[in-house]
Order: sequence, then structure tokens, then C-alpha cells
Amino acid sequence: MNALISLIGNALSLGAGTLVGSQAALRTTQNLQPYPMPHQLAQLLDHSLRLRYLQPAEVLGMYGVSAGMTVLDAGCGSGLFTQDMAHMVGAQGVVHAVDLQAPMLTLTRRRLVAANLLDRVQLHLKSIFDLPLADDSIDLAVAVSTLGEIPDKPAALSELRRVIKPGGRLGVTEEMPHPAYLLPGSLQRWVEEAGFRQVGRTGSPFCYHAIFVNEK
Ligand SMILES: C[S@@+](CC[C@H](N)C(=O)[O-])C[C@H]1O[C@@H](n2cnc3c(N)ncnc32)[C@H](O)[C@@H]1O
Repeated sequence: MNALISLIGNALSLGAGTLVGSQAALRTTQNLQPYPMPHQLAQLLDHSLRLRYLQPAEVLGMYGVSAGMTVLDAGCGSGLFTQDMAHMVGAQGVVHAVDLQAPMLTLTRRRLVAANLLDRVQLHLKSIFDLPLADDSIDLAVAVSTLGEIPDKPAALSELRRVIKPGGRLGVTEEMPHPAYLLPGSLQRWVEEAGFRQVGRTGSPFCYHAIFVNEK
């Protein structure tokens, strides 16, 4: 019996050690050389555990998405947030959903077709560094768990600033389970250095939402 307990204990320690070790390795790699979340892991974005602490409609409501707006989903992934954006901007609004991985956009399109919301969304297979959008054309840009994956943050933020209207907003959500998670202080520094001003932050360090105004 004692041998069995000790075997189970060793197996659990080994499992926990492996988990901690692999998380540490993932985070270090993301920090040194950020890269996009592989599309093969897209199911994680819709996982019920994630939805327990991150409810898209609630977050978007807090960022101020409302009827008639033109909104940008920067790094839309599987379209979890895009769908609620499309619903909330209404028939007069427009959503631009941008991602650099085609399979992610395919998932987003499929979701929008199923929800009958595709006509409100323009899908762009593009990098955030090169947005196919006019200057000062966006009321609100939202980046959920995306900025940490971007190697050249000043270039990406400068492009976001170009397309967001003067006085328009940028909402950034960061969640700790994501290996590319950015600490609130680091995020604020990056974004303010690009010409935005932080006007609010809610949530906890585990998952927070920061809102910035474009000070153009
Ligand atoms: C962790 S996922 C988050 C997806 C979605 N925002 C969500 O929260 O469900 C980050 C997404 O950003 C995209 N991404 C990363 N770097 C990007 C870039 N430079 N330009 C456009 N999309 C990018 C990735 O392809 C990925 O789909």
C-alpha cells in the first residue's frame, strides 16, 4: 500500500514538474521571440474553462461597443469576440476582423455564417503591421491576447494608432494562461509610448482589461 501511495505521489510530482517546466519554457520562448498562437490550438480559445473567466459580451460592453460603431478585432483568432462585436454594432455598424493565419479566418467566417452575421464583418488576412484600413477610420480597436504575440510592438501600436480616430479607443485584454501574457505595467508602457493614454483598467492580474484613448 505504501509503495502504491509513493508511486502515485512520484507520478503526480513528475506531472506537476513537467507542466511547470513546459509552461516556463513556453513563456521564455514567447518573451524572447514572440510568435502567433498556432492555429492548431484554436479550440483552446473557445474552451469552456476560458469562458468561465472571459465573457466576450461583458468585455466588449465594458470597452463601449455599441450600435453603429466601426470596430477592429485585432488578431481575431477563431472569432469568439468578432461574433459578439458583430451582434453589438448592429446592422449599421461594421467590424473589421484581422488575422495573419488563414485557418483562423476560416473559423471566424464559419462562426459568422452560422450566426447570420457575416454581412457586418470584413475579414482581412493581414498582419496588424499592415492594416488595409484608412487613417482615422476606427472608433474602437480591441486586441484580446494578441499584443504579446507580436514581436515589434511599437510598429503594431503605431499602425493601430494610425487607423483609430483621434479620441477613439483601444481595448486590450491579457490573460495569464496565455504564454505571451503581458504584465499590466509593461502593457501600459508600450501603449502609452505609442501615443495612447490609459484611462481605465479592470479585472485582476490573472485576466485584466485596459482601455486607452488615442491622443492624436
Ligand atoms: C491568442 S489568439 C487570440 C484570438 C482572439 N483575440 C481571442 O481572444 O479569442 C491571438 C491571435 O492573434 C493573431 N496574431 C498574432 N500576431 C498577429 C499579427 N501580427 N497580425 C495579425 N494577427 C496576429 C494570431 O494568429 C491569433 O489568431
